[in-house]
Amino acid sequence: MVTIGTPLSRSATRIMLLGSGELGKEIAIAAQRLGVEVIAVDRYPDAPAHQVAHRAHVIDMTDGAAVRRLVEQEQPRLIVPEIEAIATSALLEIEAAGLAEVIPTARAAHLTMNREGIRRLAAEELGLQTSRYAFASSLQELQAAVDKSIGYPCVIKPVMSSSGKGQSRVDDAGQLSAAWDHAASGARVRNTRVIVEALIEFEYEITLLTVRALNGDSRIETYFCDPIGHLQVRGDYVESWQPHPMSERALAKSQNIAERVTGALGGRGIFGVELFVKGDEVWFSEVSPRPHDTGMVTLITQAQNEFALHVRAILGLPVGTRMRRAGASAVIYGGVSAEGIVFEGVDEALRVPESNLRLFGKPVSYEHRRMGVALAAADNIDMARRRAKECASKVRTRAL
Ligand SMILES: Nc1ncnc2c1ncn2[C@@H]1O[C@H](COP(=O)(O)OP(=O)(O)OP(=O)(O)O)[C@@H](O)[C@H]1O
Ligand SMILES: [Mg+2]
Repeated sequence: MVTIGTPLSRSATRIMLLGSGELGKEIAIAAQRLGVEVIAVDRYPDAPAHQVAHRAHVIDMTDGAAVRRLVEQEQPRLIVPEIEAIATSALLEIEAAGLAEVIPTARAAHLTMNREGIRRLAAEELGLQTSRYAFASSLQELQAAVDKSIGYPCVIKPVMSSSGKGQSRVDDAGQLSAAWDHAASGARVRNTRVIVEALIEFEYEITLLTVRALNGDSRIETYFCDPIGHLQVRGDYVESWQPHPMSERALAKSQNIAERVTGALGGRGIFGVELFVKGDEVWFSEVSPRPHDTGMVTLITQAQNEFALHVRAILGLPVGTRMRRAGASAVIYGGVSAEGIVFEGVDEALRVPESNLRLFGKPVSYEHRRMGVALAAADNIDMARRRAKECASKVRTRAL
């Protein structure tokens, strides 16, 4: 039997979000709706989820001692990572000491924060089809790996990075050294290590949102959302839509891959499984053990969006992944570097049929910082994409 207490009282069911961006904000809202006490943590003040939480904290989440101190102070029941850049060794210790439950598991957070951990698990332990890959800790090692087994074109990425940071495509030997330098500048940590992957000439890529939640028999069952198609520019998502049409075989293969990789990571919660598809062939790319940015489209397509699904799953509640209507999302960028920017044309944007908006409330804008997202539903994904893009394009940003 699942019980939920009263926030701000001795009975409170407390969760701590590590990372308080736009995804964390929606997780916090979904948790608030169920009367959960929410503690939001980020590295800067007034982050999106800070603004809708019961309490907000600013710490360096890569500092294991700082994470541990805050957990001891706040005593959450669940720790919900929203980003990768966390001192995951501290999470392993916190979980082992029984201080809190890490979602989905501390090991999953630890393995997925480093591309090497999750790639070796998927390809070498589970035998899933992935791009050919190698790891390198110097330009010499990188050159040797490309010459020996990867070839051109290939993609170079720091093992610890996200949102396309430090990532580049390399078409010939002349570009390799620049790609190495770019990776070194985009990595989260100093001692650069990269993964080099053969470029997959996919037809399309999807995120398969996969939920591990308790069923009526109190056993963990795996549930799938309809596939989400998306468009990436510079390794960052600009548009997504649901459902992405797929052949029955490709969908079955995708679900099989997702079930195996999320099963190996374990725990409860939603996972964003990123897959490349060509015909009936499917390649595993990576997985986030948390709501996925491309999954914001579910805010308009599903009865239980990815944030509600995550919250329900982690609390031990039943989930339903049914889609209500085709939909799409389009990212709204800052466009300017300024504090406290102004969004104009919100009224015109919302005049687009079946549209909606999320403005994240980030205190500082940069040209390529994601500041909001436009959402739209329609009879089909083509119309939904047109509507979402139109809605996004009506929102103009400017410095005050
Ligand atoms: N081996 C590959 N072959 C073809 N395209 C690739 C390959 N690796 C990455 N890409 C492209 O680059 C995008 C970003 O790559 P990846 O997901 O590995 O990076 P990321 O930094 O983790 O991005 P995010 O955090 O936004 O998911 C992919 O969605 C895909 O479009
Ligand atoms: Mg990705």
